[in-house]
Amino acid sequence: MKNILITGGAGFIGSHLVRLMVNKYPDYNIINLDLLTYAGNLANLKDIEKRPNYTFVKGDICDLELMQALFAKYQIDGVIHLAAESHVDRSIKDPFAFARANVMGTLSLLQAARLYWSEGEKGKAGFAGKLFYHVSTDEVYGSLENDGTFFTEDTKYDPHSPYSASKASSDHFVRAYHDTYGMPVKISNCSNNYGSFQFPEKLIPLFINNIRHNKPLPVYGKGENVRDWLYVEDHASAIDLIFHKGKTGDTYNIGGFNEWKNIDLIKVLIKTVDKQLGRPEGTSVKLITYVTDRAGHDLRYAIDSGKLHRELGWEPSLQFEEGIEKTVRWYLENQEWLDNVTSGDYQKYYDAMYKG
Ligand code: NAD
Ligand code: TYD
Repeated sequence: MKNILITGGAGFIGSHLVRLMVNKYPDYNIINLDLLTYAGNLANLKDIEKRPNYTFVKGDICDLELMQALFAKYQIDGVIHLAAESHVDRSIKDPFAFARANVMGTLSLLQAARLYWSEGEKGKAGFAGKLFYHVSTDEVYGSLENDGTFFTEDTKYDPHSPYSASKASSDHFVRAYHDTYGMPVKISNCSNNYGSFQFPEKLIPLFINNIRHNKPLPVYGKGENVRDWLYVEDHASAIDLIFHKGKTGDTYNIGGFNEWKNIDLIKVLIKTVDKQLGRPEGTSVKLITYVTDRAGHDLRYAIDSGKLHRELGWEPSLQFEEGIEKTVRWYLENQEWLDNVTSGDYQKYYDAMYKG
């Protein structure tokens, strides 16, 4: 496999994956297709944009004709699909945008791949050596109680938010293309990611930025919801491994067995930012502001990534404390990036979310 289409490569996780693939596989041609929505930013890829094995194409995955032209032009033989609307709060405000990008977008990409790969080769034979890898989330499994259980690959889908419902639907379409047309597919479902280049509407970058600027930290509900956090470069390394070594037709859960109650994580962020800014410990605790809970707020996510460890030997590379130190440092040193991505209508969006 040589010509790899990565969708959503200008976003948070996509940019880390594109960087890894461009650096690690000089023989591959990496084609990054991204619509550059508010969440996509070419500045995330400045360091690799001139590499000979990298091409950026601006476009919408929902545009079937464009997708077909892209497969033909670049003779795509592998897809890693990340493009999506990705923020739960936005999905509550505008569910149709999520159905469009995540469901219809995934479907049009699948269809373009099927038409191109099976062209003239009659059915399944045309799929030899091809792969459609779909990047999904643990949120499709719904919500756990605080009872020590985990999501496994066999957990029944039970999405609650428009975001997770749209991702669940896209996962089902990917499996349908495998079962119906024989398309070689792989799916991974990962827990919450953190690290550099994440748009500051998600908890960690938003709170780091707010602590720095002495702005309120809007904690939903009582701050007792639990998330399972993974460093974004470890997600990218897992995708690389599954893409190359995973079993076709299989699903892999990705997570670091790293559960944190929101309020405890927020205290770690406060401590780390205060320390790195040279403020006395605990200075920013006063910024914690409890606000109305998110509608349908899932209580707990926790991933069992045992299969990925047993079958492919994957392990996260970083301890959480080290990952958070690095992440806080990156945001504090890259205020220009934050200012750049939060220009435009960000403030309008932020105010509409009743923050602070
Ligand atoms: P992100 O919002 O940072 O980036 C999404 C990217 O997709 C952006 O660059 C955006 O411009 C692009 N995009 C959106 N709609 C598009 C369209 N119609 N056509 C082409 N490009 C489009 O998201 P992320 O956090 O990097 O997530 C990437 C993928 O990983 C998503 O599929 C998400 O569901 C999944 N995921 C995310 C997490 C997480 O914690 N962030 C965890 C597990 C899985
Ligand atoms: P988020 O980063 O939006 O990821 P997800 O909803 O996909 O898990 O939120 C992580 C957790 O933090 C989630 O329980 C909601 C909570 N949260 C807040 O308490 N305040 C906020 O301003 C945000 C954005 C999230």
